[in-house]
Amino acid sequence: MSEQEQYAKTAQQQAELSRRAPNARELASQGPGLDNYEAVMAAAASAATMAKRAPLTYLTPEPQGPAAELNDVAETGASPSLATRYLGLDLRSPLVASAGPLSQSVEGIKELADTGLGAVVMYSLFEEQIRRQEARQVALLERHEEAFAEALNYFPEPEELGSQDIIRNYLQLVEDAAKAIDIPLIASLNGATHGGWVDTARQLQDAGAAALELNIYMVPGDLGVTGAEVEERHLEILAGVKQAVDIPVAVKLSPYFSSVGQMAIALDEAGADGLVLFNRFLQPDIDIERLEVVPGVELSTPFEARLPRTWIAVLHGKLRASLAGTSGVETVDDVVKYLLAGADVVMTTSALVRHGRGYASTLVDGLGQWLSRKDLTLDRVRGMLAVPEEARASGYERAGYVAALQRAKTRYGA
Ligand SMILES: Cc1cc2nc3c(=O)[nH]c(=O)nc-3n(C[C@H](O)[C@H](O)[C@H](O)COP(=O)(O)O)c2cc1C
Repeated sequence: MSEQEQYAKTAQQQAELSRRAPNARELASQGPGLDNYEAVMAAAASAATMAKRAPLTYLTPEPQGPAAELNDVAETGASPSLATRYLGLDLRSPLVASAGPLSQSVEGIKELADTGLGAVVMYSLFEEQIRRQEARQVALLERHEEAFAEALNYFPEPEELGSQDIIRNYLQLVEDAAKAIDIPLIASLNGATHGGWVDTARQLQDAGAAALELNIYMVPGDLGVTGAEVEERHLEILAGVKQAVDIPVAVKLSPYFSSVGQMAIALDEAGADGLVLFNRFLQPDIDIERLEVVPGVELSTPFEARLPRTWIAVLHGKLRASLAGTSGVETVDDVVKYLLAGADVVMTTSALVRHGRGYASTLVDGLGQWLSRKDLTLDRVRGMLAVPEEARASGYERAGYVAALQRAKTRYGA
């Protein structure tokens, strides 16, 4: 086929596809057709038209169904219910304080709980802290064994570990805070290898944690490690923790897998009760005056919500596990966007660090007001703009990508 014939055929196919499926939702649902270039381009053209009305994060479907019934002026009077299920737990709202520095005291946790948040995730207890403390306990035990050979069953009293008893302090905080608040307290374990440290999960459960968030923060810096090994490690760690506890376990994971969806499915099948998307990968800066690497956690910006939101939109409705969105929540709009994409709960830390714990009630109240204004229920909103069940996500996302670049050419082109 000559180039001209090919062009004519492509144009014909595009016209036909546009005629048959005037919006991207339909195009994306056409299945295998989206694997070919023409169909993707047609979907992109359609998306570009729609983009005049709405900016693209992932391909924004034409408002249909519930979205088409939006009523901007509805005033129902009654506050809409924000009741939510997450990890099998009943939450009073879908806003959750994510793991961070604001949960280091009972007072701090209580203050968070008093804002209308649905749950609080505590700051993380790290595998390294647990291992170090275990090693220290063994060292102390050995010293005592030498000194008192007859007292072989002697084990150092926790007091001997003093203020460095990080595990004990953490457990105590879980116990006290869980009693002090009327919403679920989720403890956070942060690790990267499989090992005995996961047994601490059981202690967290016994201390009163309603659930566990397992942050698997693994940077495969060893260049010999394969992707398959990294994935296997995730499943092993999850299996170890699941074995140790009866409470629900959510996995907070990174976005850096060759196939995020496949990893999500594997974790779901391995028993994860929820997935928290995503860990922010700490990327140190470099100070060119002091010639130093500068580590440190920066507060997020709303732009960072786009990656987790995209994957939540793909995964919504496809897993048994709950989905939590974390990163980039600054305003009520950011909360709503996560819910529209399909998040069960939306987490926030940076905004609360920036504006204070009380800001959580601004987000919770704002969500209620938005629902009232739109005359929508939370259930109808959740996943309204997820990648449709029938769509092939790869084609859908590709179409959105092509459309975005086409728009960018027009916008920024000479
Ligand atoms: C100061 C600070 C401390 C954090 N500590 C933890 C932690 O201990 N464990 C954890 O899993 N995530 C931790 N995070 C990550 C947050 O839970 C959250 O996933 C991330 O900040 C993105 O959400 P945000 O945009 O709402 O801040 C921390 C974040 C910040 C800013």
